[in-house]
Amino acid sequence: MSVVKYILPVLAAAGAAQAQCSTTATLTIENPSDASALSSCRTFSGNIALATSVEGDITIPGVRSIDGSLSAVNVTNLNTISAPQLEEIADTFELRDNQNLASISMDSLTDIDTIQWVGLANLRNLGFAAGISSVSVVNIDNTQLSSIDGIGVDAVNEFTLVNNGLLTQLQLDLVKVSRTLIISGNGEDLMVQFPLLETAQNLTFRNCSDVKLPSLESVNGTVGFFSTKFESFGMPNLTTVGGLLFQDNLNLANLSLPELETVGGGFKISNNPDLLELDFPALVTVRGALDFSGNFTSVVMDEINLVQGAFNIQSSSDEIEEQCDGFKAMSGRNKPIRGEYQCVPGVETPGDATTNPTRTSSGSSATDTGAAGHLDVSSTAAIGLFGVLATMFGLL
Ligand SMILES: *[C@@H]1O[C@H](CO)[C@@H](O)[C@H](O)[C@H]1NC(C)=O
Ligand SMILES: *[C@@H]1O[C@H](CO)[C@@H](O)[C@H](O)[C@H]1NC(C)=O
Ligand SMILES: *[C@@H]1O[C@H](CO)[C@@H](O)[C@H](O)[C@H]1NC(C)=O
Ligand SMILES: *[C@@H]1O[C@H](CO)[C@@H](O)[C@H](O)[C@H]1NC(C)=O
Ligand SMILES: *[C@@H]1O[C@H](CO)[C@@H](O)[C@H](O)[C@H]1NC(C)=O
Ligand SMILES: *[C@@H]1O[C@H](CO)[C@@H](O)[C@H](O)[C@H]1NC(C)=O
Ligand SMILES: *[C@@H]1O[C@H](CO)[C@@H](O)[C@H](O)[C@H]1NC(C)=O
Repeated sequence: MSVVKYILPVLAAAGAAQAQCSTTATLTIENPSDASALSSCRTFSGNIALATSVEGDITIPGVRSIDGSLSAVNVTNLNTISAPQLEEIADTFELRDNQNLASISMDSLTDIDTIQWVGLANLRNLGFAAGISSVSVVNIDNTQLSSIDGIGVDAVNEFTLVNNGLLTQLQLDLVKVSRTLIISGNGEDLMVQFPLLETAQNLTFRNCSDVKLPSLESVNGTVGFFSTKFESFGMPNLTTVGGLLFQDNLNLANLSLPELETVGGGFKISNNPDLLELDFPALVTVRGALDFSGNFTSVVMDEINLVQGAFNIQSSSDEIEEQCDGFKAMSGRNKPIRGEYQCVPGVETPGDATTNPTRTSSGSSATDTGAAGHLDVSSTAAIGLFGVLATMFGLL
């Protein structure tokens, strides 16, 4: 008998050895061959992580589904990551603090639970040929992406896009945002369009040059616009919102909310110096504070029938004097304007409901505050009011 006969079965067994396709914890990839070793796994059960020592390009071939998370954290010398057959990541796709990661290529990927891409100062290219069509949470923070075109979902729970300095265009066919959407600190001229967005829980737009929300109808929580650059802005279909804020929009001159009927919490407009005329033709109810300060020459709310929180209008212009008289007649305990009331024209430095307006010398005597008197910040009434405002605007 030759020795060979004994060796053959051993070799056969080695050739058929199963690649490791599951782990109860996390499989760590140390080098490209660890990644290629997964090629016979259709589904990998468990988490896959790249070791911080991994360098260059990593390809995970063959795997179609990761029943867990895929992560690379602090992998400083990683340049590209690709998984050509990967269709699904059941949990989180986390890429964090990978300074040299330039490109992600996953042309079959359609389903992810959570995208967490944070601190990827060189990430410029996304290859998502199939397109992500299902994702629950997206957080893209500090990348060099100029487009996120591969993400085409119609519903998300959370969507955060911040500090992506090269992003100048964003158009998503989102219809519903179940929790929050935050767009902040991206490219200086970022134009945002959500042509199909109908409903959301909470929307924040900061530093955008333009925002288009033509279909938005109702928002449970707060919608806020801060430090935007648009001159003209409208939400033509918005009827109901939990809270509404326009702050520090230095070019805003035309605000159109033709269908807005109900603000469930506070409605605040402050430091939009070019905004001269306010007209909310359908506004009936503000359940929180109505707090407008600016250079208004006109404030019209012909249908207003209930303001339950504080009512504060302060303008540098004398031209709202008559309109203030009209609101004053509506304020009082069993009247439409129920909370602490003040409407003051000709204010030197118009401020929010927590401030005491000082009229310029040209103005007439300050008889414009309601029965509750001036909103002295030191009084318990004002502290109570601030509490209400803080709650309404989520300041605390
Ligand atoms: C990232 O890696 C560097 C060195 O490679 C190390 O000093 C640092 O502590 C790591 N940070 C984290 C959050 O792991
Ligand atoms: C808004 O609130 C209502 C009632 O609390 C709830 O049924 C609805 O799903 C919420 N909508 C969103 C987009 O969260
Ligand atoms: C809405 O977003 C703001 C920040 O933009 C946050 O402070 C607030 O808690 C959020 N509210 C809800 C209901 O998620
Ligand atoms: C974005 O807006 C904030 C205030 O809302 C401001 O402090 C910041 O400087 C702005 N960033 C850019 C890049 O314009
Ligand atoms: C605005 O709302 C109306 C009535 O619900 C609807 O017919 C119309 O399509 C909406 N417009 C947009 C741009 O979504
Ligand atoms: C203000 O906006 C509305 C709606 O977007 C538009 O119809 C109107 O022409 C604008 N007015 C000015 C002066 O830009
Ligand atoms: C009123 O307009 C002036 C000049 O544009 C501006 O400096 C000031 O901040 C504005 N005030 C308010 C409260 O918007």
